[in-house]
Amino acid sequence: MIKVIPSILSNSPNEVRQMLYQCQDAGVERVHIDIIDGVFTNNKTTDPSVLEEIETTLRYDIHLMVKEPINWIEKCIRAGADRIIGQIEMMNSQQEFIQKIQGFGIDAGLAIDLKTPIGQLDDYLLPDVDLILVMSVATGFGGQEFNTSVLEKIKQLNAIRTSDKTPFKICDDGGVTTQTVDDVAELEVDEVVVGRKLFENDLAQNIQKFIQASNRKTDQ
Ligand code: DX5
Ligand code: ZN
Repeated sequence: MIKVIPSILSNSPNEVRQMLYQCQDAGVERVHIDIIDGVFTNNKTTDPSVLEEIETTLRYDIHLMVKEPINWIEKCIRAGADRIIGQIEMMNSQQEFIQKIQGFGIDAGLAIDLKTPIGQLDDYLLPDVDLILVMSVATGFGGQEFNTSVLEKIKQLNAIRTSDKTPFKICDDGGVTTQTVDDVAELEVDEVVVGRKLFENDLAQNIQKFIQASNRKTDQ
């Protein structure tokens, strides 16, 4: 079954706190925190350090859309990250990034932006990486429309992990709706990240709607 992970992209520490509590109250296990530095792309969020002051039982995925994400790892560890996922576009060494995170005993992911081809991933690293995140919108903002060009990338990644017997998970982030989640689920994506639309009204119910919708094609 596909996992639906709520994402928080905000420049307000108070809002981050409120959204985290909303997740905790809804019985969510894992939350995706978007971090943007104002350099990688044209937006800026809160710093991971805001998480240090908020007590929750949630697991944190931190999605780093920053220049040289390797320099942000310690901060994410102090913030209680359970997984750290970095965009590769302004990353000097994918290998050093992954090794540093895994050295702290947590999972490491690499993320590719909407326009970045699969070939930009260092393929010799794929056996060691825990997660590949594919963006289905351009990084920077929530509320954008799902771009179907991601489907071909997911197919390619799935073919690689099947033929190489490499166990990395595939996560799709951005623009996923109850209309598109089945297209993604059909391609054996493990996880989808969904932003603010999940937080409207009842978060737990919204997650269930996504899970139900994800089975539309595979159930037939
Ligand atoms: C975009 C972020 C996404 C975003 C998803 O830069 O990485 O995680 O918050 O939000 P929606 O589902 O609204 O596209
Ligand atoms: Zn994200």
